[in-house]
Amino acid sequence: MSVPVLEARNLVRDYHIGGGLFGGSRVVHAVKGVSFSVGKGKTLAVVGESGCGKSTLARIVTMIDAPTAGELLIDGEKVDIARHGLTKALRRKVQIVFQNPYGSLNPRQKIGDVLAEPLLLNTGMKAPERRGRAMEMLKKVGLGAEHFNRYPHMFSGGQRQRIAIARALMVNPSLLVLDEPVSALDLSVQAQILNLLADLQDEFGLTYIFISHDLSVVRYIADDVMVMYFGEVVEYGPREEVFANPRHSYTRTLFAATPKSDVESIRARLAKKAALVGA
Ligand SMILES: Nc1ncnc2c1ncn2[C@@H]1O[C@H](COP(=O)(O)OP(=O)(O)OP(=O)(O)O)[C@@H](O)[C@H]1O
Ligand SMILES: [Mg+2]
Repeated sequence: MSVPVLEARNLVRDYHIGGGLFGGSRVVHAVKGVSFSVGKGKTLAVVGESGCGKSTLARIVTMIDAPTAGELLIDGEKVDIARHGLTKALRRKVQIVFQNPYGSLNPRQKIGDVLAEPLLLNTGMKAPERRGRAMEMLKKVGLGAEHFNRYPHMFSGGQRQRIAIARALMVNPSLLVLDEPVSALDLSVQAQILNLLADLQDEFGLTYIFISHDLSVVRYIADDVMVMYFGEVVEYGPREEVFANPRHSYTRTLFAATPKSDVESIRARLAKKAALVGA
């Protein structure tokens, strides 16, 4: 078998919260020994209720934050975030898209510059080439030349998410961590963004870690599913297996709480869109 794009071995992350009203400190065990791996071109969905450690895990995987213990391997290479030896090349391999990209977009920066900036920071490309690449990527995510000189506030939520995805892809990453990327969008827009992600995955051979609390979305996009509960993995395996035979009681409760109609309606919309595109 080929080397996984990402492998996590027993990742642990503790947060020390100190000095409240009565002094003393407390430790939050946000991630408690999590192991998984993702192969090239695959999607691992990470599911679980609020506070179970999903975003903490996302920050470790994207090398924003260091684990308290455990190992992270990218393309078989061991990552040591604590050391200052992280190369730009390694950092570029993993990019992240958040639920609300508005927070990370500079309101005074035109979209063309938002997209070209990673190239300015990471490559020796000249301005015209950077602009050319930005324009190309804008089209790949379903926006057009007319959007190049607009500011973030001039876009809808769905369009902004397209911009965030485009920006993440500018440095040619192999892994994209998507932290609730469609949770704030309407169902129809969700379906469009999920389709876009699927298309981009095919075109660029991208690997995804897709964080979501919405099982209908997970069912649609995931190859593998990992369910977290209070910082631990309680379920991990191929999508069909996890959905057909949830073993842990928490997963069963989670699944029972998801209305089936969600799955059907999102599938129907996607099928309709596919038919339109194919026509
Ligand atoms: N910087 C921090 N300092 C202290 N505690 C933190 C920090 N970040 C997260 N935590 C705690 O760690 C736990 C896991 O948080 P995390 O944000 O990873 O959850 P999550 O699964 O992403 O939740 P949500 O679905 O609400 O986004 C929570 O108890 C949270 O309060
Ligand atoms: Mg989160």
